[in-house]
Amino acid sequence: MLVNGKSYRTIEASCDLTRVTIIDQTTLPFDFKLIDLESLGDIIVAIKSMQVRGAPLIGVASAYGIALAMNVDSSNKALDSAAHQLKGSRPTAVNLTWAVNKITEHLSGLKPNDRAKAAWIFASQLAEDDIKTNIEIGKAGLVLLKNIEKSQINILTHCNAGWLATIDRGTALSPIYNAAEEGMNIHVWVDETRPRNQGMNLTAWELSQANIPHTIISDNTGGLLMQQNQVDCVLVGADRISMDGQVCNKIGTYLKALAAKAHDVPFYVAAPLSTVDKNFLDKCRPFEIECRDPDEILKIKGQKNDGKILEVKIGLSKAYNPAFDITPAEYVTKVICEKGSYNPGDIGALLS
Ligand code: MRU
Repeated sequence: MLVNGKSYRTIEASCDLTRVTIIDQTTLPFDFKLIDLESLGDIIVAIKSMQVRGAPLIGVASAYGIALAMNVDSSNKALDSAAHQLKGSRPTAVNLTWAVNKITEHLSGLKPNDRAKAAWIFASQLAEDDIKTNIEIGKAGLVLLKNIEKSQINILTHCNAGWLATIDRGTALSPIYNAAEEGMNIHVWVDETRPRNQGMNLTAWELSQANIPHTIISDNTGGLLMQQNQVDCVLVGADRISMDGQVCNKIGTYLKALAAKAHDVPFYVAAPLSTVDKNFLDKCRPFEIECRDPDEILKIKGQKNDGKILEVKIGLSKAYNPAFDITPAEYVTKVICEKGSYNPGDIGALLS
């Protein structure tokens, strides 16, 4: 997508296959900064610190992490160790494990000497596939938006499931970009998404770059807006979807789904099929809900009038910071994926 008129992707490999360049997502919306990652260790730090984030992007970043590791040592031991370290870097989004398993499986069948080059090719292919997938999600989602018969369509979104969370285009924001490009009259309510404010810092920044009308709201405002008929649909991404349509996504998603159900507002989830977890079904939840540093709640970052970024403490008590929640399938109207839009209960069947 364009940033100040220039086209970028969130992650790009260098021509000499020695590093990747990423957009540092911890400095937005104040500074747009590109940084180079040159080792497996750099990739792991970037994922843990959320310089790269969003389920599809951390999957592709992990694949590049394997490629960087193979540049140094392409033995079986090094491959296993890199895969293990990457899988431990963030636990909830299934795309990370999915991408690491896919590239590891591919490389395991090759001689060690052939692995480094093959890893770069494979990781780049995952990046290209992500973009194609998101374009298809955008088309399927646009059909749903076009079904809303209103002179202006108000969409509420949570967290950031835009191009910054993927390689390009985004998942939940992909239909929104399509609608804007077709000249539809849309407006996006952007949940700030405490504690890390991905909505305010990233989604609002993305929408500003694309000149799409939007308004940041506090995480507590969606219910009132739905009660006042000011939300025509909710559109969010996902970090993991069960075979029976439960949706694990950024903390606070579930509350929006409850409010949407109470007010008869369609609740749409946009995600690639790589987000569906074959082992997640009914009450079986074979993953950890990431619990992050309480300081993310107790401190807040901002920009002073002189342009300096500073972090201040805003709370002194103990804090608890789970990063994701699970929305039961009965609150989800449709899951939008690269194959179209489906009832949540039908999504698992698409994998086979
Ligand atoms: O903790 P984050 O910022 O990585 O969480 C991101 C989300 O919850 C997104 O909604 C999800 O990954 C979908 S991204 C296309």
